[in-house]
Amino acid sequence: MPENSQNSSVLVVGATGFLGMEICRQLVNAGKKAKALVRPSSDPAKVNALHQLGVEISEGDLKYPASIKKAMDGVGSVISTASSTFSRQEGDSIESVDNNGQLNLVQTAKDARVDQFIFISFYPMPGDFPLQTAKRNVEKKLLESKMNYTILQPAVFMEVWLSPAVGFDFPYSKATIYGEGKNKLSWISLKDVAMIAVASVDNKAARNSVFQLGGPEALSPLEVVRIFENHVGNEFTLEHVPIAALRAQKTSATDSLSESFAGLMLAYAEGDNIDMKETRKVYPFRLTSVTDFVQQVPVEQAI
Ligand SMILES: NC(=O)c1ccc[n+]([C@@H]2O[C@H](COP(=O)([O-])OP(=O)(O)OC[C@H]3O[C@@H](n4cnc5c(N)ncnc54)[C@H](OP(=O)(O)O)[C@@H]3O)[C@@H](O)[C@H]2O)c1
Repeated sequence: MPENSQNSSVLVVGATGFLGMEICRQLVNAGKKAKALVRPSSDPAKVNALHQLGVEISEGDLKYPASIKKAMDGVGSVISTASSTFSRQEGDSIESVDNNGQLNLVQTAKDARVDQFIFISFYPMPGDFPLQTAKRNVEKKLLESKMNYTILQPAVFMEVWLSPAVGFDFPYSKATIYGEGKNKLSWISLKDVAMIAVASVDNKAARNSVFQLGGPEALSPLEVVRIFENHVGNEFTLEHVPIAALRAQKTSATDSLSESFAGLMLAYAEGDNIDMKETRKVYPFRLTSVTDFVQQVPVEQAI
């Protein structure tokens, strides 16, 4: 059994993703032995970047339990960020990866007598949709697994939800807002989520705990737009997607991914209510605010 010690590795599942790569970077900076689960189909440039960081590479696919057994050798902790929502290969879906694949991973880690499992979930959102069902199923299995678990339930990532990929097109001073944009969200930087995940490794205070994670200040999307406008020096053109349209999108969705995206946009429209008071006692770091984040965006592109 790999004891949780300086000699055991931390296996990052989802290491070629935005959050997983940042976790690997921070693990290495913290002097921890990091191992990455990558797939034969993963982007070679990302696998090479992990290799350059000094991360050990192990191949496997969550859909095939036999393929991930070997990766558990010498592992004391697993951190799983994997998801099929943005990075998909043939056969990947919310059911096969986010649900069954993650359940396979929990079982494989348990069989390998891994000491700690850190799972990146998200905060309990309003409404039922397949990605939320998958996250809760994995959390439940972890709670029953008898492994030490740390379940991290972040709010929306600034790097994703304040990016052109979801219509927050700050380089062109345009933003799509889901709903009226008046309900507050606890925007968090994925760098801070990575910092908290890394700080959870071998941390007794993080054992067998569930933490909702938000940033230092909850702000409505319209308040965030004002911060960007002040920084960029341009007024934004806003396009609102009404809640009724999001509901219709969810009801008429023909696959679990589209239904889940509609569910996520509805949750954004409704806002969240994350209280970090107790969590801050375990992770007392300075967290990135939206005002800090806006300093990092390439405003020279703004027109
Ligand atoms: N975006 C948000 O606002 C937000 C908020 C709260 C929580 N989260 C959660 O944060 C997590 C990380 O998000 P992210 O943006 O870093 O995701 P991402 O960039 O899309 O990365 C997904 C990772 O999962 C891997 N993966 C997918 N299918 C796999 C499979 N079958 N077997 C093994 N690996 C597989 C991908 O590997 P390949 O490169 O091989 O495809 C990739 O490394 C997700 O679980 C998400 O639900 C996100």
